[in-house]
Amino acid sequence: MNLKDSIRTIPDYPKPGILFRDITTLLGSAKAFRQAVDELVQPWAGDKIDKVAGIEARGFIIGGAVAHQLSAGFVPIRKKGKLPHQTVRMAYALEYGTDEMEMHVDAVIAGERVILVDDLIATGGTAAGAVNLLRNMGANVVAACFIVDLPDLGGRQKLEALDVPVRTLTAFEGH
Ligand code: PRP
Ligand code: MG
Repeated sequence: MNLKDSIRTIPDYPKPGILFRDITTLLGSAKAFRQAVDELVQPWAGDKIDKVAGIEARGFIIGGAVAHQLSAGFVPIRKKGKLPHQTVRMAYALEYGTDEMEMHVDAVIAGERVILVDDLIATGGTAAGAVNLLRNMGANVVAACFIVDLPDLGGRQKLEALDVPVRTLTAFEGH
């Protein structure tokens, strides 16, 4: 099946003029969800991946499934103030302004092979922040994977400029 057909578009959400690409319809389809996870992990079947890092919130859903499929551990990268143990923090760029994300200091061991997962890449600000956070802790970020790419917003180029290979399954032009 074409995964794109399982993603719903909501016009004017959250603001007028924005087309929101809603993956809940993909997640709710047993067939589409399985296919998306299978396709995401395909390059690393039989490869040793130590950890999958997922970005709160939608990256947790995909990342948990990807980690299970690869028999890897899962690392939550959270919005600040949510994690109970000692954390490391990274500022990242939003469409307007900045925010901060965190992970636990002991969530990755230096040299571990980590795949970063989120549902969607737009400007790439969120994913680039996560790559920097993981690398600061010594992780070897093997790749970043997303179900949806909004190529007009340049996220892929931003990650590739950081030397991170990018895998996406479907794209919406004109975001
Ligand atoms: C969305 C999406 C990505 C990010 C992509 O998350 O799930 O994480 O934006 O945007 P970027 O490439 O321009 O940084 P959002 O911050 O809306 O939060 P959520 O996942 O918690 O819903
Ligand atoms: Mg998100």
